[in-house]
Amino acid sequence: MSATKAPSTTGAASRAIREKHKEFLFPATIQYYEEPIALTDGKGLRVRVADRNEYLDFFGGILTVSVGHANDRVNAAVKAQVDRLSHVSSLYPTLPVVELAERLARITPPGLKQSYFTASGTEADETAVMMAQLATGNTEIVALRHGYSGRSMLAQSLTGHSSWRALPTQVAGVKHAVSAYCYRCPLHLTYPSCGVACAKDIEELIRTTTTGRIAGFLAEPIQGVGGFITPPPEYFEIAVGIVKKYGGVFICDEVQTGFGRTGGKWWGIEHWGVTPDIMTMAKGVANGLPLGVTIATPEIAASLKALTISTFGGNPVSCAAANATIQLIEEEDLAGNAERTGRFLREGLEELKRRFPRSIGDVRGMGLMQALELVDDETAGNRTPAKALTNRVFEETKKRGLLIGKGGLEGNVFRISPALTVAPAEVREALEILQESLAAAGAQ
Ligand SMILES: Cc1ncc(COP(=O)(O)O)c(C=O)c1O
Repeated sequence: MSATKAPSTTGAASRAIREKHKEFLFPATIQYYEEPIALTDGKGLRVRVADRNEYLDFFGGILTVSVGHANDRVNAAVKAQVDRLSHVSSLYPTLPVVELAERLARITPPGLKQSYFTASGTEADETAVMMAQLATGNTEIVALRHGYSGRSMLAQSLTGHSSWRALPTQVAGVKHAVSAYCYRCPLHLTYPSCGVACAKDIEELIRTTTTGRIAGFLAEPIQGVGGFITPPPEYFEIAVGIVKKYGGVFICDEVQTGFGRTGGKWWGIEHWGVTPDIMTMAKGVANGLPLGVTIATPEIAASLKALTISTFGGNPVSCAAANATIQLIEEEDLAGNAERTGRFLREGLEELKRRFPRSIGDVRGMGLMQALELVDDETAGNRTPAKALTNRVFEETKKRGLLIGKGGLEGNVFRISPALTVAPAEVREALEILQESLAAAGAQ
């Protein structure tokens, strides 16, 4: 498949899908674009809608299609497993699940060894917090403003975005530290003269708002939904040092940053020089099949004594997909491609910032996790989030056949994250469409 420019989504098949979606799904299920697109097929970096128009996919179903749509090798593993055995529940061990657990123990940072499998990132984070509480005997958790953890009651309570909260915080004991959001420093300081005061403030937070003994600190190496907020290099060492001093463990949420996404390494946290006690994964692990993982040290894993099952956790089909995905990432050095092609993408985005110096306030991210933050007028120091412009550019990219993501508290950040298999030619094509779309939408 190759991208067709200016696709139309007015066809009857698309319309029928959209209408049924509107009638039979919860209306709050957010969908992209004024007129959502009903995707039916995909191959590699291309996806197709019911009316047979094609798009270049630079969002991969929210950083989840790690090795491309309908990847032959992953699909072969899935099909073979479906024909053999689709479901047993966590009550029975299977070969795919033990192979995956062993593989994860090998590729995760030292000390992490035993996994608990679920069906989503939300459950992975829930499990991690419970394990931190059981292992330390403490209950309070430090999370981050602008962080996102999912949609259960606890995950919403951990999340630092009002827009993703349907109800007031239901779970007591979650304290939100300020985010290392340098472009909009919550402490109104500038790196590096700030001395990474945001990380140091965690000590003040613990001493003033908790019992003084915490269960843990949950953080994403780069805040995904928050708009790819990338901390300064010293942040995690300082933050985790404080957390340990007050009895907590470090829960690293690699749901978006995992599996080579940040370039050159398996995990986002490896760029920041600290080792987690618990790590959570989902999204990119199985190229789109549902799977959540919480991996911990054996000491922490042993602290769960109650009975526990997960009906869908460690589903053999999802695990077979994960084994094939991880093998591919490893054998084809896709983390290396994320670093190299990510650098090329970043250079192109920096060039766009030079062309549109008023509207593009910030370019940030690592590897194939890159963001553009749009503001009213960067050259005049006016960083008011340019929400309307962001929406216009977004619609223009769709018209021109490119799918990207949005994020940030105010929805004024583009998240650009193609599959790790992306080629430089596809990056060039995406950059051209972005440039045309920014111009067409009136960016300056
Ligand atoms: C960092 C992070 N953690 C957890 C989650 C929740 O994952 P899920 O949607 O699979 O429940 C997400 C989802 O976007 C996420 O980005």
